[in-house]
Amino acid sequence: MRRTTLAGGTVVTLAATLLAPAALFAPAAQARPAAAPPAAQALAAAPDIPVANVKAHLAKLQSIATANGGNRAHGKAGYKASIDYVKGQLDAAGFTTALQSYTYGGATGWNLIADWPGGDASHVVMVGAHLDSVTAGPGINDDGSGSAGILEAALAVSRAALQPAKHLRFGWWGTEEAGMVGSKNYVNSLSSADRSKIESYLNFDMIGSPNPGYFVYDDDTALDQLFQGYFSGLGVATEPETEGDGRSDHSPFKNAGIRVGGLFSGADYIKTAAQAAKWGGTSGQAFDRCYHASCDTSANINDTALDRMSDAIAYALWTLGTGTTTPPAGTVFENTTDVAIPDNGAAVTSSVAVTGVSGNAPAALKVGVDIKHTWRGDLVIDLVAPDGSTYRLKSSANDSAPNVLTTYTVNASAELAAGTWKLKVQDVGPQDTGYIDSWKLTF
Ligand code: TRP
Ligand code: ZN
Ligand code: CA
Repeated sequence: MRRTTLAGGTVVTLAATLLAPAALFAPAAQARPAAAPPAAQALAAAPDIPVANVKAHLAKLQSIATANGGNRAHGKAGYKASIDYVKGQLDAAGFTTALQSYTYGGATGWNLIADWPGGDASHVVMVGAHLDSVTAGPGINDDGSGSAGILEAALAVSRAALQPAKHLRFGWWGTEEAGMVGSKNYVNSLSSADRSKIESYLNFDMIGSPNPGYFVYDDDTALDQLFQGYFSGLGVATEPETEGDGRSDHSPFKNAGIRVGGLFSGADYIKTAAQAAKWGGTSGQAFDRCYHASCDTSANINDTALDRMSDAIAYALWTLGTGTTTPPAGTVFENTTDVAIPDNGAAVTSSVAVTGVSGNAPAALKVGVDIKHTWRGDLVIDLVAPDGSTYRLKSSANDSAPNVLTTYTVNASAELAAGTWKLKVQDVGPQDTGYIDSWKLTF
């Protein structure tokens, strides 16, 4: 749309000025990377994982424990029954599944590996969770929650008939509770060539804690930012996961030099007052008061945390799996929808969705800005990265010239490329007005 500027700087709006967020992602305004691999699918948004489905898997794991002496621990019938359930679901959905067995403590243990056919086998995105419980209880939060979350994300890949650029692999680990025995076995079983094909490993061990926190593994900056960006989009604060580096199945992957990430909703540590203020729940109590106890049952789950973290698994798979390794140089993402800038008022934003890329943004990210304004000195302009980090492009100044038609260069190498970037503009002086005509990011 265009506005007509009348004498005296009055701007007449010819159409709605502030658009609903969805309208800001006008497809015509997006340039797709031309160099995407031919087999790669157009980058549909990640699906919303139905939490009811995740809970149905948890109910099944609970009934398996109940029928097998109250647990799903290594060497017990409840563990093998859990493996059989998950494998059956994946086989029916078109995954290629394999059981990897090993012996520990005189008993056989199993890992279940499920590959989604297709994608570049030399760029593997892998997610995992441990399927065993402690002997004390059914292990529904630890780690039925992660097991069910990645299972439902895998089933969503199948429902979407996803054709990712990269190869997707899922792992359910045995004997984590005895010291990550299954995942260590798996990593050791890989040739160094196969290890180097795993680009990222994401771990989900406890994602439905009843008094939840939102912890993001801080091992790898880009993967950390991927999840931080997701939660900041939901308006949910996160903290780095510090409760126990090396306490779950990401550890053998990390030790083998594979970049790792993950989510965690908390175990036996106590929620502080500050954490309760931002996340709700009860301060002075453990995130999971049933950690490693008989009461870690179907009742020991916070549905909201389980829902959000399951959705975040799908978001990570879609973002990492469908992305090219780096955006081809010169890829442009643009928003040409006008946004009015209120005179001497609140900041407005215009969004650009960057999809189809993984890895970080470039050190010389070009930000092309086209703002029509009758006195540009009034304007303060920022670039906001997907995780909320802000880069000042322009401050207000004593500058009476009209319009901003400039390309700024930003060192955005600390930012993950994929996600929603925003141009934030505020008019901090009275009288003169204008609008964002268009803006674009050039990688
Ligand atoms: N299964 C883990 C354990 O029993 C749970 C856990 C504790 C955890 N702290 C963690 C998992 C930190 C991931 C990150 O020790
Ligand atoms: Zn666990
Ligand atoms: Ca003004």
